[in-house]
Amino acid sequence: MNNYQITAWCSDFIRNQVQDGDLCIDATMGNGNDTLLLSRLCGSTGKVLAFDIQEQALNATRERLDTANAPDNYTLLLESHANMAQYAEPGSVNCIVFNFGYLPGGNHALATRGETSVQALSQALILLKKGGMISLCIYSGGDSGFEERDQILAWLKQLDSHKYLVIKSEYYNRPNHPPIPVLVIKLS
Ligand SMILES: C[S@@+](CC[C@H](N)C(=O)[O-])C[C@H]1O[C@@H](n2cnc3c(N)ncnc32)[C@H](O)[C@@H]1O
Repeated sequence: MNNYQITAWCSDFIRNQVQDGDLCIDATMGNGNDTLLLSRLCGSTGKVLAFDIQEQALNATRERLDTANAPDNYTLLLESHANMAQYAEPGSVNCIVFNFGYLPGGNHALATRGETSVQALSQALILLKKGGMISLCIYSGGDSGFEERDQILAWLKQLDSHKYLVIKSEYYNRPNHPPIPVLVIKLS
């Protein structure tokens, strides 16, 4: 791992999870960093579905993937992640990535919201195959506020521990509402 930023931390687990040929979802496409990572990891026999509600994100991601010569294995969708269940079969996805918040360099008002984030996470659990993983980068404070963080954490807490393993990490000595990395593994 080159650094211990939240995205680098989660990427390490994503690299460990995704195999050639997998179906993966980037639930918050943004500028395409996670879409590119997933595209490379699942390779030409795999597939990535990437969601965002902003045209600006799709354009930035398309350019990012083109420039990086990513495998031709992705579909960029101008669609809310709250509708992701319409795009994949239940039990078919090995890795789903959520990086909540707003598009860096974009409109902060078009950030993810607690209610739709929880809807999307509920659908993600259905789409995930056994052994599949969801990675979450959760932010709070500043423009993000606290409502979304609290809604997501409350939802995670009530997941059935026989069916899902939830691992929440912590930047323990960092002040001012540090980001929260979480992994969810589907056990059965
Ligand atoms: C922090 S950014 C994601 C960064 C991205 N992972 C990257 O590598 O650049 C969060 C993104 O979520 C998007 N977003 C907000 N609400 C959404 C929704 N309901 N469905 C899908 N994407 C959404 C925003 O438009 C923004 O681009």
